[in-house]
Amino acid sequence: MNKEREKISFSGIQPSGDLTIGNYLGAIKNWVGLQKDFYAYYCVVDLHAITIRQDPKELRERTLKNLAIYIASGLDPDKNTLFIQSHVPAHSEASWLLNCYCYIGELSRMTQYKDKSQKAGESVSAGLFTYPVLMAADILLYDTNVVPVGNDQKQHVELARDLAIRFNNLYGQTFVVPEPYIADSGARIMDLQNPDKKMSKSIDNPNAYILILDSPDVIKRRINRAVTDDIGVVRFLDKQPGISNLINILGAITNKSYKDIEKDYDGIGYAQFKEDVAQALIEELKPVQSRVKEILADKSYMEKTYKDSAERANYVANKTLRKMQKKIGLIIR
Ligand code: TYM
Repeated sequence: MNKEREKISFSGIQPSGDLTIGNYLGAIKNWVGLQKDFYAYYCVVDLHAITIRQDPKELRERTLKNLAIYIASGLDPDKNTLFIQSHVPAHSEASWLLNCYCYIGELSRMTQYKDKSQKAGESVSAGLFTYPVLMAADILLYDTNVVPVGNDQKQHVELARDLAIRFNNLYGQTFVVPEPYIADSGARIMDLQNPDKKMSKSIDNPNAYILILDSPDVIKRRINRAVTDDIGVVRFLDKQPGISNLINILGAITNKSYKDIEKDYDGIGYAQFKEDVAQALIEELKPVQSRVKEILADKSYMEKTYKDSAERANYVANKTLRKMQKKIGLIIR
C-alpha cells in the first residue's frame, strides 16, 4: 500500500434526491482525486436522508443509484470501502453517545438546520436537529484525517472536530481530529436561475439544477437558460454571479483557474461560452452515465460490493465504538 494511503478520507451524500452537478463537482470529483493518496470510506448516508420524510421505494432505489454513481465516477470499491450507512449500526450508537457530549446551543447555530427547519415548518424532526452529531459519528468512527465536502458542510465538519477534541480532553486520546477538505473550484455550485443560492436537489424549479444523469439535451437547455447579465464579458465578478457560476463549473471540470478562463474568453460572447460549458459537462458526465447503467444492471455485483464493504466498515467502526464505550464507563460484553 502507498504509504500515504495510510491516511483516511471519509465522506457521504444523502440519497434524498437525485444527485446534482453540485454533488459531483463539490464532492465526488474530489473524492476520486484523493483516492491515490488516502484510503477512503465513502458512504451513502441513508440515515441522514430520513431526517426528512422519504418514500420507502424511492429511498431504496436512490441508495443503490448513488452507490452506482460513486463507482461509475471512478472510485474503486476494491481499493476503498464504499458502503451504505445503515449497514453499520455503530453509526447510530456512536451518534447517541456523542449526543450526550454535544450542546443544544451548538446545534442551534448550524446554518443548514436553520434553513431546513424554516422550510419544514412545524414538522421539524428531532433527527433534523441532531443530524450533525450523526455526521460527527460517521467521521470519527474511522480515524478520519480529511473530509472532502462542499462549502456548505464546513460548519458540520467543524462540529465533528469540536466533539473529537472535547471527548479527547475528557477521556484521553480517542479520536483523530479531522480536517475539512474543500477544493478551490466546485466547492459551491450555484442555482442556475438564482445564482445567489446554492444548487440543490430539493429546489422545485428544474431549470435551476443539472443532475449527474441528465441527458446531453437537458444539459444544453439548462445551461442555455442559465441566468446571466447584460454586461457581456466573461468575468469572475460579484456583480456577475451567473457568469461566475458557469466559470466555476468549467474550472472544476477542466482544472483551469478563473483567470485562465477569463483570458480564454476575452472578446468571446456568452452564447459560445455557454455552449462550451455545456459541452464540457456533457463530456465529463458521459462515461459516468454509461457506467451507472451497467453497474445497476448487475445486481449481484452491487450486492457483493455493499456486503463486502459493510463487513470492512463494521470491523473498523466497532473497534472505535468499543473504545468509546470503555472510556465512558459502559461495561463491554
Ligand atoms: P449532501 O447530501 O447535502 O451533499 C453531499 C455533498 O455534496 C456537496 N454539495 C455541493 N457542493 C458544491 N456545490 C453545491 N451546490 C453542492 N450541493 C451539495 C456537499 O457539500 C457534500 O459534500 N450531511 C451531509 C452528508 C454527510 C457527510 C457525512 C459528509 C453525512 N455524513 C460525513 C461528510 C462526512 C449532507 O447532507 O451532504
